[in-house]
Amino acid sequence: MTIRKPAIVINFKTYPEASGRNALDLAKVCEKVALETGASIVVAPPMADLALVASSVSIPVFAQHLDSVPSGSTTGHVTVENAKASGAKGTLVNHAERRIRIAEIHEIIDKCRGAGLATIVCTNNLAVSKAAAAMEPDFVAIEPPELIGGDISVTSANPAIVSDTVRSIRQIGRGVAVLCGAGVKNGRDVSKAIELGTDGVLLASGVVKAKDKRAVVLDLVSGLPK
Ligand code: G3P
Repeated sequence: MTIRKPAIVINFKTYPEASGRNALDLAKVCEKVALETGASIVVAPPMADLALVASSVSIPVFAQHLDSVPSGSTTGHVTVENAKASGAKGTLVNHAERRIRIAEIHEIIDKCRGAGLATIVCTNNLAVSKAAAAMEPDFVAIEPPELIGGDISVTSANPAIVSDTVRSIRQIGRGVAVLCGAGVKNGRDVSKAIELGTDGVLLASGVVKAKDKRAVVLDLVSGLPK
């Protein structure tokens, strides 16, 4: 699965405001904005809502995490095959709130590639971003953990980590795209992310906790290049 760039990736996390019926409603808001504006919007609903959301909207729906265990005699996990069968088009990997070992990151990227699922590997610093890029996921998403859920966007708080990550990953080559996230809230943050060389943003609370979610998604999209 190829995700159109630049992309706005919205992680619903496990917020009640974006779980169950609310997950579906928010995914539909994102779908409507994507259809109206032509923007590339990806949603990652709570794992329990993955199949429901993936079967209800036409925009790409991602898992928030997958387990590197075999399908079959394993219990309580979500495998790459499960996600594919649910209609997911990709997955986040190694999110700051769901870290995994490097060998597992590699295995998940590999299995996803085989299954035609896209991968976004989340990273916390330059060294981890380079290691992730060497494994050739579709995207590396740089997210300084201390800025996650906060009010200051990574693009203002630490623009250097974004541009340094972009530069290093472009040097490694191999067509790996770069996202940035943490504290991203509005169109200005999105346009700054693009200016810093990224292929888009990964965000959560700015959309999920907003009263008027459609207005926020529209504002985010306004920051994409015309
Ligand atoms: O996955 C997105 C993320 O960790 C950033 O969260 O709430 O700072 O947009 P937030």
